[in-house]
Amino acid sequence: MIVCLCNAISDRDIRRSLTDGTVASVADVYAKAGCAPRCGRCVPMVRGMVHEHCGRPQQRRTPEMA
Ligand code: FES
Repeated sequence: MIVCLCNAISDRDIRRSLTDGTVASVADVYAKAGCAPRCGRCVPMVRGMVHEHCGRPQQRRTPEMA
């Protein structure tokens, strides 16, 4: 499935890069493909895939959360 229509990046491309360790962030995904986000519609999905593989970033605790 194509995740990024503007740059023709597929979910397989992203998963392969995450698995082989060549990407670890959303920016890495586009850099590895030699491009940058254009319309940005794919960014939430790319972010979800990165977080799914690498784990979600730690949420900062606020005083209200303590
Ligand atoms: S769909 Fe990825 S930048 Fe437009």
